[in-house]
Parts: sequence; structure tokens; C-alpha cells
Amino acid sequence: MDDDRVLRRQLYWALEAEHDVVEAETRREAVEKLRGGEIDVVVSDLHLPPDLDGITEGLAIVEAARALRPAVPVVVITGSDAREVALEAVRCGAYGFFEKPFAEAEVAHIVRQAARVRRLERENLRLRDEFVGRSGLGRLIGTSAALARVVKQARAVADTSATVMLAGENGTGKEVLARAIHEESPRRAAPFVAVSCAALPETLVESELFGHERGAFTGATAAKKGRFELAHGGTLFLDEIGELSPAVQVKLLRVIQERKFERLGGEKTLTVDIRLIAASNRDLEREVEAGRFREDLFYRLNVVPLTLPPLRERREDIPVLAAHLAARAAEKHDRATPALDPSLIEALGEYDFPGNVRELENLIERLVVLSNAPRLGTEHLPEKMLLAAPAHEDARDRRDETTLEGATLALRRRLVAGALQAEGGNKVAAARRLAISRSYLHRLISELGIDGKGEDE
Ligand SMILES: Nc1ncnc2c1ncn2[C@@H]1O[C@H](COP(=O)(O)OP(=O)(O)O)[C@@H](O)[C@H]1O
Ligand SMILES: [Mg+2]
Repeated sequence: MDDDRVLRRQLYWALEAEHDVVEAETRREAVEKLRGGEIDVVVSDLHLPPDLDGITEGLAIVEAARALRPAVPVVVITGSDAREVALEAVRCGAYGFFEKPFAEAEVAHIVRQAARVRRLERENLRLRDEFVGRSGLGRLIGTSAALARVVKQARAVADTSATVMLAGENGTGKEVLARAIHEESPRRAAPFVAVSCAALPETLVESELFGHERGAFTGATAAKKGRFELAHGGTLFLDEIGELSPAVQVKLLRVIQERKFERLGGEKTLTVDIRLIAASNRDLEREVEAGRFREDLFYRLNVVPLTLPPLRERREDIPVLAAHLAARAAEKHDRATPALDPSLIEALGEYDFPGNVRELENLIERLVVLSNAPRLGTEHLPEKMLLAAPAHEDARDRRDETTLEGATLALRRRLVAGALQAEGGNKVAAARRLAISRSYLHRLISELGIDGKGEDE
């Protein structure tokens, strides 16, 4: 990240050919994006204006990254006169640094190395997972009926090439599920290509997706294959699809309909054989109603909809996930796997996890790294989670119809169950009767724990 737009542009062009570049202007923005969890390497200028405490912002980012995502390498940029600060950054855990003014090739090289380290680490974990039989849908840890239901549906579509639409809040496992579907499909030997539509700067979305010919626009110094081409024979995962601009939605629609496209600035029409999996944390049906997402594109993508419920609606998964994630984090950081105290498990079970499995994963990784204790207990938890503990009371309140929340839930449950019964289990008709979208009805059914078996059409 950097406060200097020109420098950021320069970095962007140095890196975009090989990486998905996500930019952040302030430390806060950078931290937010890191929390999002999809970042492999951080590049940060050390020469940001110091904040009120007099800490160099750049150093603060190194520290924040180490705490939040210990596995993400941080590369820093320094002025040529600031070797001291650079060394300080390395002491804080930075992976490497380069000096301004820099050569693009040098930057590309350092970042490539850092990304390679990160990739090898991931690959290692993946191989170990495979070794212990965790591949394909086995990657999705959890014992809840809600998760089992999604996994069962995913298994049923895996060996087809049907387009899948994944819904679910951030961190619920949409990307793991997409990868798992690919691995269980006949396309498993071909590439799985993931692209986050949110991470792409608007002007470059098209070039990312469809590629470009040399000289197609300023900066296009070489021809480049787009994600559609790279995924040929395999699976293309379009993440955060709700973020696409209307113009790109049109182009995407055409490619999906015809499986044909041209590179930017290219004449040749290319054809690809790919399986599409799209994901969004937004309610796309609502986005369609609001006119923000094309209806025709929605129907093209929403062939097989699968919804991953938030972690707070499948709390039974928390203990087994916590144990699994602790073992994983310990292995990654060369620590002994800590035992998890029952009090810790209980406290985790009461917390709402707005960031879902990703938040649990980051939390456990942090506890493993920072405490380095043979046993993790509630004393290791951050304060905000202990403050959240009275959620227990909440859980009781949710069933107590003398509280506003309990009464509201009971009313919803009665109305939804009543509509389903009145329509003989037909969800489309029940949704119409309740004047809500079908996907919202599905969500209510799982949230309210209603037996929603019955026909879908
Ligand atoms: N059921 C699960 N079992 C194991 N790990 C999971 C599960 N669900 C999510 N994760 C982990 O949580 C993190 C977030 O998952 P991800 O698929 O990126 O979520 P999303 O795409 O919905 O934001 C990833 O590191 C992933 O490995
Ligand atoms: Mg995601």
C-alpha cells in the first residue's frame, strides 16, 4: 500500500501480469483487506506519514500483518537513505525490502519470490491434507446437519458441468467448496482458476477475464491470456460476482451464452470449455430486484444454487473446526498442537463469528502463534470475545416468547411453516404467498430450523 498514487500505479504495472493486485490507500484499508483473508503478499511503503503515536505507518502495517495473518509475507519499500528503517522492518518480520527508485523487474522478482514461498506453504498444507484423506469435499470440516446438506448437494452436482452459484456470508467456505467441487469433478486434472471480481480495478476486469493482445491499451506491453483461457478444460471460479459493473456483466453474459470471446484488442474468436462456479456474499436475487444485477445473467449463473449457512447457525461445527484449525496452524508454524480447554470451546461456541470460519481460523492461528502454550484457555482469548460471552443468555432469549426477539422469531417460524404447509411444501408458491424471494425463504427455513423438505419447483 502507499499514499502516493503514482508509485501505486507503477507498482500495479510491475505486478499485474503475475498477480491479482488489490490496492489500499491507508493503513486501515490495508488491515481491512488483510482481514478479508485473500491476500498472499503485502507490499508497503515505509515512508508513510507517521500517525499520532509517531509510529511509522509502514512499520505499523508490518506489525499488523504479522499479527493478523502471520503467514503472509510483507515486502517493504524504503527511501534509499533509510536502511535503518528497512532493517527495523525486517526485524519486525518483513520478508524483504527494496529501495526507491526501483526497477520494475526487481520488484516483480521479490514479490514473485514471496508469493512462491506462500504458495509452497499452501501446497504443503494441501499435500498433508490429502495425505490424511482430506481432499475434495472432505476438506469441509464440520458435523452439522446444515453443512452435511450442502455437501450432499455439492456431491450430486460435482460430476456434471452444471454452473453452480454459491451464496453465503464472507468466510463461510464458498471458495473451499468451489475447489472441492472441482476436485470431485472429472475436470480435476485440469486447472481450477479463481478470480475475485471485487479485487479487480474496474478498468482491468476485462483484460483479466478475457486477456489482451500486445498494445491493446497503454501498458499492455505483452499479450496476456485471460482467466477464461487459463481455465480451459477446468473450472473457473468467479468470486464476488455481485461486484461486477453493468458493462462487464453484459460481456460476461455473452461469454457464458456462447462460450466464445476475443482478447482485448484481438480479432480471433476463442472458444473455451469450462465449468463455471460463481459466488457472492450478497443476496443476488435482491440485487436483481434493485436493478443492480442483470436478471438474464443471474439466471444463467443460478443453475444450481448452494447456500453455505453462517457459522453461528451451525455452532456444532465450532469444536471440530477449532481442533482442526489449531492442528493446522500448529503445523504451519512449527509448534506443538495445543490442547483446547473445554472452557475455550464453550466460549467460542457462544461467540457469533461475524467473519465466520475465516474469523475462527484467524483467531486460532493468532492464539497458536502468540501464546505458544501447550493448552489454550479462555485467558488467551481477546477481550471482545469474552464480553460477547453472555450470548448464552441470548440463546435462551431467542426461545423465550416474552422477549421481542423470541416473539418475532416465533411469529416468523409460524408464518413460514404455515405458508409451506398451505402450499403442500412447494417453496416457490410459499415464497410467493409470503411475498419474499425464494432464496430468502430458503434462508429463513434454515435459520428458523423449519423442516423444509418438499418440492422446490
Ligand atoms: N468447513 C470448513 N472446513 C475447514 N475449513 C474451512 C471451512 N469453511 C471455511 N474454511 C476455511 O475458512 C477460510 C475462509 O473460507 P473461504 O472459502 O475463503 O470463504 P468465503 O469464500 O466464503 O469467504 C478458508 O481458509 C477456509 O479454508
Ligand atoms: Mg471468498
